[in-house]
Amino acid sequence: MFTYEMPTKLYFGKGCVAQSVADMAALGKKALIVTGRSSAKRNGSQDAVVAVLESAGLGWVLFDEVEANPSVEIVRNGAELGRKEQVDFVIGIGGGSPMDAAKVIALLCTNDLDDEILFTGPYGAPPLPIVTVPTTSGTGSEVTKISILTNHKAGTKQGVKSPMLYPKLSLADPSFTMGVPEHVTIDTAIDALSHAIEGYMAKDATPVSDVWAEEALRFFGLHLTQLRGTLSYAVREDLMYASTLAGIVISQAGTTLVHGMGYCLTYYKGFSHGRANGLLLPQYMKLMEESMADKAQRVWELLGFAGSDDFEAFMKDLMPDTVTLSEEEIEKFTTMVMKTASVKATSYDVTAGVVARIYAHISK
Ligand SMILES: [Fe+2]
Repeated sequence: MFTYEMPTKLYFGKGCVAQSVADMAALGKKALIVTGRSSAKRNGSQDAVVAVLESAGLGWVLFDEVEANPSVEIVRNGAELGRKEQVDFVIGIGGGSPMDAAKVIALLCTNDLDDEILFTGPYGAPPLPIVTVPTTSGTGSEVTKISILTNHKAGTKQGVKSPMLYPKLSLADPSFTMGVPEHVTIDTAIDALSHAIEGYMAKDATPVSDVWAEEALRFFGLHLTQLRGTLSYAVREDLMYASTLAGIVISQAGTTLVHGMGYCLTYYKGFSHGRANGLLLPQYMKLMEESMADKAQRVWELLGFAGSDDFEAFMKDLMPDTVTLSEEEIEKFTTMVMKTASVKATSYDVTAGVVARIYAHISK
């Protein structure tokens, strides 16, 4: 038995934002635009969205204070503005951080939730309608029901998860990613690769999510060796297509141990989300070669690697970062990870020993 739910209307391709006038107008009279300080202004996405809103005769207000790995406090500020301005819907423009912030801002515009209930539910009222405009190719948040926030009270990143958080509309234009710097292109692509791989291997993978996962992996296989330097539009388009497909995969199958372990490397050691995942992915694949040999072999065929050793060498070259973890840190992170749902979602008998061994392996 499996279910397949993917209620987001997706526009994909160059110039697609301009095609969404009627869809935007159907969502209300006034929008809250949620974004970061500068990138949406530089890459043309904010102007494209504003042009659509204005041609539809809609009002809008801007909240451009979203930082990387947004905190609960920031989304509360955004929701306060949305309520004060009585907006009808929320548009998140940017990488995962603004899109994830927009989802929870939309939820907090219609629900009074303390910090605990925010992460667990239940939620009384549906959020305001959510629109997502991705400007990196990585997170997949444009098509998922999950928002990842930094919860300083819990001392890590945590997910707010509900089918109500599926965006009503997603406008994915790869041309907004043309100016993304090399290290962000690499980090976001590896995050998306991690989504495709983890979703494919997850206990909750379904026959339908596997179709999208294999298709995403096929596209990554074409371009993994081309992530450095100046990328053509055609490559940018394929990367966004693959990352959107990988987003659909995790919207069905969820993420697993790589993400669960990676959050500690981001929160405590300052690694970007994609880089944290990339550092962990080769060791995760070694586990998968034991427990899911057939699927692991299919991953290598689609990506063009001989196996996990070959993949590890490739990743070391792509992400030559050093991680230094003390024994105390390994113990602390392991204890935190073992409490997360990522352990049970993984198709392997994940013990504290397994988690500690992987952290020790990546540590210099
Ligand atoms: Fe991710």
